[in-house]
Amino acid sequence: MNDINKVLFSAIQPSGQLTIGNYIGVMRQWIKMQDTHTCLYCIADLHAITTRRSPKELRRDVLDTIALYLACGFDPYKSIIFLQSQVHQHSQLCWLLTCYTYYGELSRMTQFKDKYFQGNKNVNSGLFNYPILMASDILLYKTDIVPIGKDQSQHLELTRNIARRFNSYYGNIFTVPVRYMVKHGSNILSLLNPCKKMSKSDSNKNNVIFLLDSINSVSKKIQSAVTDSNNPHSIHYDMTNKKGISNLLNVLSGLTDKTISDLEIEYSGKSYRQFKSDIIEIISDILIRLQSSYFYYRQNEEYLENILYYGSSRACLRADKLLNKVKKAIGLI
Ligand code: TRP
Repeated sequence: MNDINKVLFSAIQPSGQLTIGNYIGVMRQWIKMQDTHTCLYCIADLHAITTRRSPKELRRDVLDTIALYLACGFDPYKSIIFLQSQVHQHSQLCWLLTCYTYYGELSRMTQFKDKYFQGNKNVNSGLFNYPILMASDILLYKTDIVPIGKDQSQHLELTRNIARRFNSYYGNIFTVPVRYMVKHGSNILSLLNPCKKMSKSDSNKNNVIFLLDSINSVSKKIQSAVTDSNNPHSIHYDMTNKKGISNLLNVLSGLTDKTISDLEIEYSGKSYRQFKSDIIEIISDILIRLQSSYFYYRQNEEYLENILYYGSSRACLRADKLLNKVKKAIGLI
């Protein structure tokens, strides 16, 4: 279906540490959606400063992220790819919406509570207000759909409530966005412990394949990924008894676009060794291409900065229209 008038908004915090799980789960689908939707992809550097990092690291992480986006196939001429801090309307709308968000709502956010109760030393109000900035990101562009993982769905629910509340005072200013559920492959699990999600912040890096991992280390990680000792070895999808194998089937399916049942047929009677060696080959092919493109972009910082300025100036034009509408609605002169 062609939904070119539908607006898709997504953002990630700057980091060069994206995993194959991010790639399969979200990035590949976002890339395809560039042809069917009006897409905005934002690098959320203002969200990133809720935790401390040095100026040098922040700058590096932003450039790593944009280079990685480009290498993965995001097209700055099809989509609007931009830097949150370069579109000042985000922080302005954030203040306005702060006055339409309740303390009680924010204190119920589980992500905040986790950080708070983990004994985090730097519980600044940015962390507390984080979801309002996120709401501003989304609402500024009349966004229809937001592809997000489960961990962010409470924030999206809050965004919807803020939008509805504001609209109930002032008329139809904001579009109330809906969550876009990513299709299969969105749930790639940890390699050694397939009971939890593959996560870039996992302390055991052998659980995770990063897009910038060396091919050698990818091969070692897949080889040591847990399977099972059920006899006879059989490659089929069974999330109760064969979590490891099912996870690897998800990886393979996500990377090749073959369905799980096609893969089950293809691998019937084949060994786990053969299965893993095919996965290693396919991941390696993809990563070699992706990494060479990444390093090509990454060495040209001026080009990367220009791409960000270009995207941000396009985003600004759209954001400004909506911000003015909001200000007028409130009665600001
Ligand atoms: N908070 C999101 C995360 O950490 C990133 C984010 C910021 C975002 N603004 C957004 C995601 C707006 C979706 C929409 O993953």
